[in-house]
Amino acid sequence: MSMKVLVVGSGGREHALIRQLAAAAGDTELYVAPGNPGTALLARNLTVDTSNNPEVVAACRREGIDLVIVGPEDPLIAGLADDLRRSGLAVFGPGALGARLEGDKEYAKEVMAAAGVPTPRYQAFSSVDAALDYLDKIDLPVVVKAIGAAAGKGVAVCATRDEAETHIRSCLQEQKFGSAGLRILIEECLFGPELSVLAITDGHSCALLAPSRDHKRIGEGDTGPNTGGMGAFASVALPKELYRQIDAQVITPTLAELRRRDIPYRGVLYAGLILTPGGPRVLEFNCRFGDPETQVVLPLMQGDFLELVHATATGDLDRYLQGLHESEVGPSGWSGGGVTDWSRHCVVVVGAAEGYPGSYAKGAAIQLPEDRQDEAWIIQAGTTRRDGELVTSGGRVLGAVGAGTSLSEARTRAYGQLADVHFDGLTYRRDIAAAESQEG
Ligand code: GLY
Repeated sequence: MSMKVLVVGSGGREHALIRQLAAAAGDTELYVAPGNPGTALLARNLTVDTSNNPEVVAACRREGIDLVIVGPEDPLIAGLADDLRRSGLAVFGPGALGARLEGDKEYAKEVMAAAGVPTPRYQAFSSVDAALDYLDKIDLPVVVKAIGAAAGKGVAVCATRDEAETHIRSCLQEQKFGSAGLRILIEECLFGPELSVLAITDGHSCALLAPSRDHKRIGEGDTGPNTGGMGAFASVALPKELYRQIDAQVITPTLAELRRRDIPYRGVLYAGLILTPGGPRVLEFNCRFGDPETQVVLPLMQGDFLELVHATATGDLDRYLQGLHESEVGPSGWSGGGVTDWSRHCVVVVGAAEGYPGSYAKGAAIQLPEDRQDEAWIIQAGTTRRDGELVTSGGRVLGAVGAGTSLSEARTRAYGQLADVHFDGLTYRRDIAAAESQEG
């Protein structure tokens, strides 16, 4: 395909998207707004304020962009995809109505109830007193969630009443999460392994990518505060029946409910699941690719990623999926499973700045290893250039990715790549995909 493609965003997810697009770019010209030094190696970074929709639309016009992939949730929630579509562009990413699934957790619960999608029980509150009264009547632990998008920080799993009260007051009284926390959900706490399922959809057809698992806590053994994600792996091997259940009980009815509400949806529907003995339950929906899940699911994909994205953005996904070879099939009951090469595995380990997810230093000089092509590579996230030198600029600085024909091989390669990364304060978890590699 020959076209100009813009990816909106500046994190690891966007670097991973650009890397996947660049692998089969042909005549395609790649742009990122605003991007990072990693994306600049493969695409042209544009200096654009991505919270300013007219500015993004104007940049697209100026550069003659044909197709836009919107990475992060904030611009999607703010209707960037709608404004880009109105200006005649093909866009991968839902409009504001679809993105409300992530931007308003109470609304997402309402959609799930209407669609019959299994999700933990909850009550919503805007008043501290009412929330505390409710807390006295229910069993602990509970999950307290700001209903708006708060970069993963608005959710707290609370083992004690004190912890729950503290998070309730942070949201409703101290307003630590701004308008995102002015209303909260108090949700029953379920137990089981978590799973991320990313469905690429044009609202009608869908292709479910390889199931992946994020490691959200900062500390080894899943301890300490939540982060944006300290590592991930794919695929997660599931019991056969679970593939069908996730598709039939979660993804298919949610897309049907969106159609019933006349909400067009072209992009990724990301289901954050917990696998309970009673079946999968939806903890949250996101309206975009996961970060760092994208770093491990995209390298497992086969076929032409750009064509898949374009077909999704133009409502032609069914035709793309029909065109996959008959040999390209996934697990039974997993729609569009042929987009994944199920014989491969991938692991990403996040290298963070010391102190993250609390306060951390910026500006440390970074040394990176050589890219080992299809085996191991670095995805940049919180990096910038200062006087030409690559330095840290965020909490999650980069991800070391390893791929292979087994999870254990992929894991060894990811950690091998990270061993050659150097910057002052580099911290990372040593147990990403550890237990699962031994099982495999
Ligand atoms: N990895 C969690 C997220 O992308 O929201």
